Amino acid sequence: MGLSHRGLQLLSNIATNDKHGENSPYFDGWKAYDTNPFHPTNNPEGVIQMGLAENQLCPDLIEEWIRNNPEASICTAEGVNWFRYIANFQDYHGLPEFRNAVANYMSKTRGGKVKFDPDRILMSGGATGANELIMFCLANPGEAFLVPSPFYPAFIRDLCWRPRVQLVPVECHSSNNFMITREALEDAYKKAKEDNINIKGLILTNPSNPLGSTVDRETLRSIVSFINEKNIHLVCDEIYAATVFRAPCFVSVSEVIQDMEHCNLNLIHIVYSLSKDMGLPGFRVGIIYSYNDEVVSCGRKMSSFGLVSSQTQYFLAALLSDDKFVDKYLGESARRLEQRHSHFTKGLEKVNITCLPSNAGLFCWMNLRGLLKEQTFEGEMMLWRVIINEVKLNVSPGSSFNCSEPGWFRVCFANMDDQTVDIALKRIRAFVGKETGSKPVEHKRWKSNLRLSFSSRRFEENVMSPHMMSPHSPMPRSPLVKAT
Ligand SMILES: Cc1ncc(COP(=O)(O)O)c(C=O)c1O
Repeated sequence: MGLSHRGLQLLSNIATNDKHGENSPYFDGWKAYDTNPFHPTNNPEGVIQMGLAENQLCPDLIEEWIRNNPEASICTAEGVNWFRYIANFQDYHGLPEFRNAVANYMSKTRGGKVKFDPDRILMSGGATGANELIMFCLANPGEAFLVPSPFYPAFIRDLCWRPRVQLVPVECHSSNNFMITREALEDAYKKAKEDNINIKGLILTNPSNPLGSTVDRETLRSIVSFINEKNIHLVCDEIYAATVFRAPCFVSVSEVIQDMEHCNLNLIHIVYSLSKDMGLPGFRVGIIYSYNDEVVSCGRKMSSFGLVSSQTQYFLAALLSDDKFVDKYLGESARRLEQRHSHFTKGLEKVNITCLPSNAGLFCWMNLRGLLKEQTFEGEMMLWRVIINEVKLNVSPGSSFNCSEPGWFRVCFANMDDQTVDIALKRIRAFVGKETGSKPVEHKRWKSNLRLSFSSRRFEENVMSPHMMSPHSPMPRSPLVKAT
């Protein structure tokens, strides 16, 4: 039961404002999925979840490592000797082995071109916690961060809800593949100044969510020059660093500043996480790497509110310092992502659907402008509702990413198995065929031997609450719960 109006009055402004983002119409898609989730045998006509930026392509590699390294867990016969020490560990600096391993791993995922100092690594609950924490360190309530659009929708929750920072979009356009130009940065900055908004920094997601593309070296240099000239911070969310599956390779801000003569390092901060690159969103491992000593010192104290559990740190210290495993994992993960991406985009091309050229991420930025009844955001919403209710795919409309042009949709492709991707492609092709008058693809009954295709996680990006979990959802039963 919801809170009554009088009940709400008893709570704080933060508790009762809507910056958590859950009231957006975007959630209709999640609800549609949640009340009617696709299952290959139990519910083959259900909604396929393509709104979840999860990397489920390589868990087998981690499982194999776990089997071969039982001592890496304190909850096995082989590892239990460490149980007391690790269970009691609570230093907010984190286990030294963990910080060393993360620094080493971050260097590997940036092509070995930069070294990271383990003493500058701060922990938080996922990149979600990291982005919030860095805002608490850098901006006062009411101050603002520039953010190139389209952008990750939950930045509104992470930056605006509790830190009460404002977001000022830097509009990017399809005419140049949504590249961030100096002109667009200057325009947004100038406009904010005219509106008396104090800009404290710029937050950049590289590789981009939702575009699935990387920011090139020249653009990064120009962004670093821009923030230096304005004397504002640059927060680079590099959560998708190791999802780059084809050229051009990923260039981290850490590499760019290494080669620049004039850069105030106190302005540079990197946010990272193992949620996407390693497919471990449930572990809640978020990292802040700041070049600013004050931020490191204050952020470390603040990290008390969202530490990574020592059990997880201990396990990851062992996993990530196994160089042989990490090299194999990164290579294989990129190969599987490339394969999935090519398969998916080629499937779309068969009905002339194009996507923005991309080389990274767990999604495509699909161009459906040709299917809009009118070139407006209302037209986009109309099409989106048809896709959810009739085509039965939960994709995400561009407007939820603050895209400045209607008709773009983000489609996630790495959170399901091969068979489910093919079913989704068939549905899209049948729908587009019907819409454009070309011969629709025959609608066959789906094979009944498909594997269970998605995880139990039902909330991501714009924050889902547990109350949205449906009894119909295909959640695997935990071995800890006794069968009734
Ligand atoms: C750009 C970006 N930043 C942060 C996050 C949050 O990640 P985490 O699960 O590590 O909190 C996401 C998740 O989708 C993301 O896409």
